[in-house]
Amino acid sequence: MSRLRLVIVFVLLVACSVIAPAQQLSDQEIENRVNGLLRQMTIEEKAGQLTQLADRSPQTMDLIKQGKVGSLLGVLGAQQANEVQRVAVEQSRLKIPLILGYDVIHGYRTVFPVPLASAGSFDPQLIEQAERVAAKEASASGLKWVFAPMVDIARDPRWGRIVEGAGEDPYLGSVIAAAKVRGFQGKSMADPESVIACAKHYVAYGAIEGGRDYNTVDISEELLREVYLPPFHAAVDAGVGTLMSAFNDLNGIPATANHHTLTEILRDEWRFKGLVVSDYDAVHELIPHGTAADDSHAALEALTAGVDMDMADGAYTNIPELVKSGKLPKSVVDEAVRRVLRVKYKAGLFEHPYSDANREKTDILTRESLQVARNLAQESLVLVQNRGDVLPLSKSQTVAVIGPLAADKASQMGSWAGNGQAKDAVAPLAAIIAVLGKEHVLYAKGVDIPPYESGLAAGVAAPAPTSATGVVGAESGKPASIDEAVDVASKADAVILFLGELAGMTGEASSRSTLDLPGDQLKLVAAVLATKKPVVLVLESGRPLDIRWALERIPSIVQAWYLGVQSGNAIADVLFGDVAPSGHLPLSWPRSVGEIPTYYNHKNTGRPSAPDRWHTGYLDQSATPLFPFGFGLTYTTFKYSNLKMEHPTISPDGTLNVTAEIENSGKRGATEVVQLYVHDRVAPTSRPVRELKGFQRVTLAPGEHKMVQFSVKANDLGSYDPAMHWIVPIGIYDVWVAPDSASGIAGTFEVQ
Ligand code: NOJ
Repeated sequence: MSRLRLVIVFVLLVACSVIAPAQQLSDQEIENRVNGLLRQMTIEEKAGQLTQLADRSPQTMDLIKQGKVGSLLGVLGAQQANEVQRVAVEQSRLKIPLILGYDVIHGYRTVFPVPLASAGSFDPQLIEQAERVAAKEASASGLKWVFAPMVDIARDPRWGRIVEGAGEDPYLGSVIAAAKVRGFQGKSMADPESVIACAKHYVAYGAIEGGRDYNTVDISEELLREVYLPPFHAAVDAGVGTLMSAFNDLNGIPATANHHTLTEILRDEWRFKGLVVSDYDAVHELIPHGTAADDSHAALEALTAGVDMDMADGAYTNIPELVKSGKLPKSVVDEAVRRVLRVKYKAGLFEHPYSDANREKTDILTRESLQVARNLAQESLVLVQNRGDVLPLSKSQTVAVIGPLAADKASQMGSWAGNGQAKDAVAPLAAIIAVLGKEHVLYAKGVDIPPYESGLAAGVAAPAPTSATGVVGAESGKPASIDEAVDVASKADAVILFLGELAGMTGEASSRSTLDLPGDQLKLVAAVLATKKPVVLVLESGRPLDIRWALERIPSIVQAWYLGVQSGNAIADVLFGDVAPSGHLPLSWPRSVGEIPTYYNHKNTGRPSAPDRWHTGYLDQSATPLFPFGFGLTYTTFKYSNLKMEHPTISPDGTLNVTAEIENSGKRGATEVVQLYVHDRVAPTSRPVRELKGFQRVTLAPGEHKMVQFSVKANDLGSYDPAMHWIVPIGIYDVWVAPDSASGIAGTFEVQ
């Protein structure tokens, strides 16, 4: 064969190995192959499969050759991925491929709205589509495993990581968890465009004391099962391949060494067959937790509790010695190795270990992906106040764009933005200029937001200097000044203020003790308001902020969170009325930091709120949050009527069918998120005043009305009895079809 032919044959072979879909092996065939490999493995090679490292140093490459590494974290780019994979597949004795993982929390390169924001879209189909894009991009870049979705329920906005999850509600969180798993894993994890998902952080990380990161969690088994576990269970039911254990301690036992959650619940009750990886360094951290004396002890605790793979700290290198000394049964190691190998087979890694470097050029940041990002950003934005219908703004006027976040590309991306790059982001200023033309946009930064010195970096590249040449006040390097802001406001017909937090003020190790607008932003608001121009406030933040002061004075307020690469475009689409807002809050918005934790599905107590009799909340503040969970306005109004139960009485194994009529009673088309809430009046344990059990996005033209139907299995209305058995109590239940968790049309039904 000529050299040319040889080259062609080689290229075709490589192409087939990366492009052809992996052949689906039957479960039995996978078990046979896993057991075949196990029989050949030394104890050191087994420990290797249970070890994930986070670097590509020569020492690590050498360990890969020796079969002592099962996974790498943070290798980005098809070429680099193929290089490390080649060492494992061609130079190690048993040729077991590595599994390459990374945090893809809200997109890989096409960065989507932060998870807290996209949860507010109440649109699982679109969220699934976004994760499909993320999977395609991440896999094109050589990754086969994403450390997402983050499914921690959070009731404390001081916690920086509230931004990474779907908010406070276990039902919404579960629906979104399942959608994300489906999006990442597609029809098959072995599809070259699919990645293995990892539901994290197992479990109850969101319940840490005072929102202080990595802190202690001490909660009842009931709260654990009813609030914090459901999204993980939903992820498992959706077929998630892996879970990550959490940093926190749970009722005295660190989550990384918690046999009750990792084995009794996850494996024995839920029948989870995939693998559990620890969080970064978390096995070693059993030492400062105070349950392990050294790394060997920590490895023994974590592995026997049910953590199969150790991330980054190397503690599982103690496994061979632990087995030889008789402290650790070989069967425990074998079972963990089985779980790792099983996932590798299911992901098609043995057949297709390499990725197709060409896909990096065609599959990343495509026009279609950017459209999904724009759609999701539009749906995530929440209009919380619009007095006098200041919004939408007319396109034929001169607008002053003011505030430290208006031109800040990095903050649009939000924290923990994968491989996202600030230069890809459209900042609001640029998008508004594109709508109005530069001669109709005046710009002033107004003030700087001083960054905190501690905390992790935002996870994205530093902001590129933004210069909107030709726009008043936009020259980079010019010192921020309120005078300039007042000047541009006075010359404009209306003002759009972009205030909030820098992206790095939420995320890991980025909790705050207050919900204040940081820096001098309130001074800026006061100065701009003094010009008496109509003002719209756009808030960009990873948590709800204390905006009582602004709420009284500013007619229109939009919560824009961090909306990703298409942030500016989506904001402009909504502000100028091309799109009607449809996002609803995925959490209760506290009035002040003092009322935290505040959440809609609280218990009634023996003395529920009765302001004329006693103050069950605070003397100095209303007992209700500023905005309830599920709340969001739009540019029209909706009327709810005709609530009907198909049957007023259902059996515990029956189905509740509820219908209600929703009418667009305003003057323009828009989408409403119609929500179904239920309350069980009498049960063995006290029940939340309301629980979300369903929702639907309903789009209506002006004057149009629609019957909306919800069907919920009675079993899903149940609760745990004091012995932690799931029951469906008989008796009367309240039901609401509602635009948020604090209003709606009400009825009752009976379970008999
Ligand atoms: C620590 C974080 O808690 C976790 O979410 C992340 O996946 C790992 N680091 C790896 O980056």
